[in-house]
Amino acid sequence: MKLKHTMAEPAPLQMDQSTRTHGDVLLSAQDMVIEFNLRGRLLTAVRGASLELRAGETLAVVGESGSGKSVLAKSFLGMLDKNGRVRSGSALYRGLDLVGLKTEDDWLAIRGKKVAMIFQDPMTALNPLKTVGEQIREVASLHRGLGKSEARLLALDMLSRVGIPEPERRYSQYPHEFSGGMRQRVVIASAIACGPEILICDEPTTALDVTIQAQILELIKGLQRDLGMSVLFITHDLGVVAKMADRIAVMYAGQVVEEGLSSEVFYDARHPYTWTLLASLPQLGIKGDELFSIKGTPPSLFKTIKGDAFAPRNPFALKVDFEYEPPFFDVSPTHRAKTWLLDPRSPRIEVPETISRLRSRLTETRAEELAGKAADLAARTSRTKKGGGR
Ligand SMILES: Nc1ncnc2c1ncn2[C@@H]1O[C@H](COP(=O)(O)OP(=O)(O)OP(=O)(O)O)[C@@H](O)[C@H]1O
Ligand SMILES: [Mg+2]
Repeated sequence: MKLKHTMAEPAPLQMDQSTRTHGDVLLSAQDMVIEFNLRGRLLTAVRGASLELRAGETLAVVGESGSGKSVLAKSFLGMLDKNGRVRSGSALYRGLDLVGLKTEDDWLAIRGKKVAMIFQDPMTALNPLKTVGEQIREVASLHRGLGKSEARLLALDMLSRVGIPEPERRYSQYPHEFSGGMRQRVVIASAIACGPEILICDEPTTALDVTIQAQILELIKGLQRDLGMSVLFITHDLGVVAKMADRIAVMYAGQVVEEGLSSEVFYDARHPYTWTLLASLPQLGIKGDELFSIKGTPPSLFKTIKGDAFAPRNPFALKVDFEYEPPFFDVSPTHRAKTWLLDPRSPRIEVPETISRLRSRLTETRAEELAGKAADLAARTSRTKKGGGR
C-alpha cells in the first residue's frame, strides 16, 4: 500500500529547532480502547492507545489512513459517532476523566471551552446560513457568557488575530464569500474564541494549496506561542510534522507504537513502521524502487490481533512478533517504542541504510537552508549599508 504524503515538491525539511520548555501533563490518555458497532459487528478502531500532551507543546500524531488518529482525538471531545464508544481506558484532563463524561451538559464544560478542534474541511465546521461574525459571536456568548456587544468585539478581535483583513466588513459576510484559506482562518478564530487550553488540529491544511497551507501552519504556530495553548496535530505529512512538532506519536492499527521528541523520532527511530514512514520522505530524494517501502495492508480491526499488529508487513519480524504483543521499551527518558527488536534478547538487526542516512541527509538540508539564510542576510545587510550611505 502506498503511504500518503501531500508534498508535491520535495521542499527542504525544516525542523523546528526551538527549545521550548514544556509544562505539566495536561491530557493523559491511557490504554484507550474505542470500538464501533457496525451492523452488529464490532470494529476496534483504537486498541489500547496511550499518549500524553504537555502544557505548551505541539504533539504530532502520525500514521497511515485508518490507524485511529481521528477517532482517538474525537474521544477527547465526546464527538465519537453514535455507533462508537470508549470501552476502556482513561483520558485525564487536569484530573478529570473525560471517559466518564456522559451528558451533553458535561461535555459543554470541556468541548470548545477547554479543548477545541479544527478539521480538514473548514466548510463542515461552519454554518452556511449564518455570517461568520455571528458564528464566532455565538461561540463566545455560549462558552464565555458574554453579552452581545462584548461578544461582537471579541469576534472582531479574533478575526483580526487570525489575519483576516477588514474584520468589520468580513464580520457580516457568509462562509461562501471566503476562500478556502480564509475559511480555515475563520474556523481557527472560532476555535480560539473561548481561549481553549488544547487545540486539536486534524489535518487542518490538507484541503488547502501549498502556499496557503504554509500560512495556516504559521498562524497556528504563532497563536500557540501567543496564547500558550497545547496543540495536538494530526497529519500524514512528515514535512509538516518536522515544522510543527515538539514531540511525535506514531500510530499503527489503533495503537501508539513509538513516541519521542521530534529529533529522536526523525534521527533515531526504532520501530520498523516508523522507518517505513520516514522512508517516504520526499526530501530523501530516493527513487521509488530504492525505498524501504511498506507492503501489504493493515490488519482487519474486526478481528482479534495476535502478537505485533505490524508483524505481517515487517521485513524484520521475529518469531515472537507473531505470538506476543510487544511491550514498550525505553530508548531514552523521552523516547520509547513498542517493538520486540528493542528487547535485549533479540538479534541485532541492521537499520535500513535509507534510515541510517536520514540524519545526515536532514542535517545537510538544514545546513544548506541555514547557509542560504546567512547569504540572504549578508546580501540584505550590505544593501542596507549601501542604501544608508554609511
Ligand atoms: N462511525 C464509525 N463506524 C465504524 N467504523 C469507524 C467509524 N469511524 C471510524 N471508524 C473506523 O475506525 C478506524 C480508524 O479511523 P480514523 O478515522 O481514526 O482513522 P485515521 O487514522 O484518522 O485515518 P485518516 O488518516 O484517513 O483520517 C477506521 O478503520 C475507520 O473505518
Ligand atoms: Mg483522520
